[in-house]
Amino acid sequence: MKMLCVPQSPPLQGEVRINTSKNSMLPILAACLLTKDEVILHDVPCLTDVRWMGRLLQALGVRITRQERTWVIGCTALRTTNAPPDLVQRLRASFLVTGPLLARCGKVTIPFPGGCSIGSRPVDMHLKGLCVLGARSRDRGFALEMESPQLRGDTVYLDYPSVGATENILMAAVLAKGNTCIVNAAREPEIEDLARFLCAMGAHIEGAGSGVITIEGVKELHGCAYTAISDRIEAGTFLYAAAVTGGDIALRNACAAHMRPVTAKLRESGVDVWQDGDLIRLRSTAPCAAVQVKTMPYPGFPTDMQPLALTLATVSRGVSVITETVFENRFLLAGELKRMGALIQVQDRCAVVQGARALWGARVSATDLRAGAALVVAGLAAAGETQVLGIEHITRGYENLPYKLNALGADIKIIDTHIDHNNTAQSRGR
Ligand code: UD1
Repeated sequence: MKMLCVPQSPPLQGEVRINTSKNSMLPILAACLLTKDEVILHDVPCLTDVRWMGRLLQALGVRITRQERTWVIGCTALRTTNAPPDLVQRLRASFLVTGPLLARCGKVTIPFPGGCSIGSRPVDMHLKGLCVLGARSRDRGFALEMESPQLRGDTVYLDYPSVGATENILMAAVLAKGNTCIVNAAREPEIEDLARFLCAMGAHIEGAGSGVITIEGVKELHGCAYTAISDRIEAGTFLYAAAVTGGDIALRNACAAHMRPVTAKLRESGVDVWQDGDLIRLRSTAPCAAVQVKTMPYPGFPTDMQPLALTLATVSRGVSVITETVFENRFLLAGELKRMGALIQVQDRCAVVQGARALWGARVSATDLRAGAALVVAGLAAAGETQVLGIEHITRGYENLPYKLNALGADIKIIDTHIDHNNTAQSRGR
C-alpha cells in the first residue's frame, strides 16, 4: 500500500500539460465495440480506469495493441457478450458496453454496477432508454440480461440529463433502424466528443452538446483514428491547486471553453484567470474570497470539481456555501478536511464552510477519486505534512499527479506503507 506525503508548498509556478479526458476515453473505448474495423486512439492517458476498461474489452474478445500512448483496437469477432463481473465491478463506466453490445450483437449480459462512496448511482435511465429502442431486459438477480435482434429508432425522454445514460443510448442508436431523438440529453463536452468520434466512424448525429440529440441509424460503422479532448477536470484540479497556494501557473492542452463554469467561479473567488494564446493562465495573489457553489449538469459547475471548491473554501475569507445537487453522498471529504482543521458543517446536500482557517497536516484517507485529489491540494496549503492514504483512488483518474505538482514546486513523496493491526500506517521507506 502506498500513501502520499504532502508538505506545505510554496506558491505553485510553471506550466503543466493536461492529458486527454478520462471521461471521454471510457465511452470512446466502449464505442470501439461498434465496428469490426481497426480503431486507432492517440494520446490515451495512463490511468487505472482506462486500463480496466481495456481489460474488459479484451475479455469480450477485442485485440488491443499499445504503442506508447497509442492504442490500436481491433474487434473483428467478439468472443462473448457476457461482461465478466470481476471487471465490471472495477469501474462503473464498464456499464457503457451495454449499448454497443446490444447494437452490434443483439444481446448482452452484464452485472448491475453497484453504488459507490459518492452515491447509489442507479442505471434505470440507461435501461429505460435502451428499452424504448426495442431492447428487452430481464433481471437475473446477479446480472442483467438484455436482448434485441434489431434496435429501432424512437424518441427517448430522459428524466435527468444523465451523462452515462445519454452515452449508452447514443451508442445503441447509431446502429438502430431509423431515427432516434434523445430529449433532455446531457450536454457535457464528453458527449460531444463521443459523438464526434462516432461520426468519424460513419455515424450520423446532430445536436450533440445540446439538450436534443438526433441520430439517423446506419447499417455499419468503420474504423478511424481519433484523439480525445483534454481533461477539464484534471485542468480544474491544477487551477485549484494553484489558487490555494497563491500560485501562478499555465495549463497547456486545456480547452478554455470547456473550463468556463470553473474559471468563472475562480474569478469570483478573486483569482485572475485568462487565456494567453493556447495557454490558460491563473495568478492568485491574495487570499481568495468565499463563494457560493452549486453543482449542476454542464454547463453548470461540475460535481467532479466540488471537492476542490470545498477545499479552496476552507482557506478563503468568509463563509462559503457549497451545494451538491448531482450525487447524494459527496461530502465524505468534509470529515477528512476537518481533521486538518477545516470548519465545515454539512447538512443534507449543503456544506457551510467558515473559511480562512489555517489548515494543518494530518493523516487522511481518499474516499474517492476527486476527494483524493482535493486532499492532496489541501495538503499543499496545510502547515506541516499531510499523509494521504488510498492513492489507488487518485491513480484511477490522474496520471502522475504528484510528479506534475512537484514540477510546479511541490515536494510530494510516495511512501510504501503497511497497515498494522491497530490500523495505523507505518512507513517502509521511500
Ligand atoms: C459521469 C462522470 C462522472 C461525473 C458525472 C456527472 C464518467 C465516466 N463519469 O458519471 O465523473 O461526476 O457524470 O457529471 O463520465 N442517475 C440515475 N439513473 C441513471 C443514471 C444516473 O438516477 O440511470 C443519477 C445518478 O445517480 C446521479 C445523476 O443521475 O445522481 C448523474 O449521473 P450521471 O450523469 O449518469 O453520471 P455518470 O455517467 O455515472
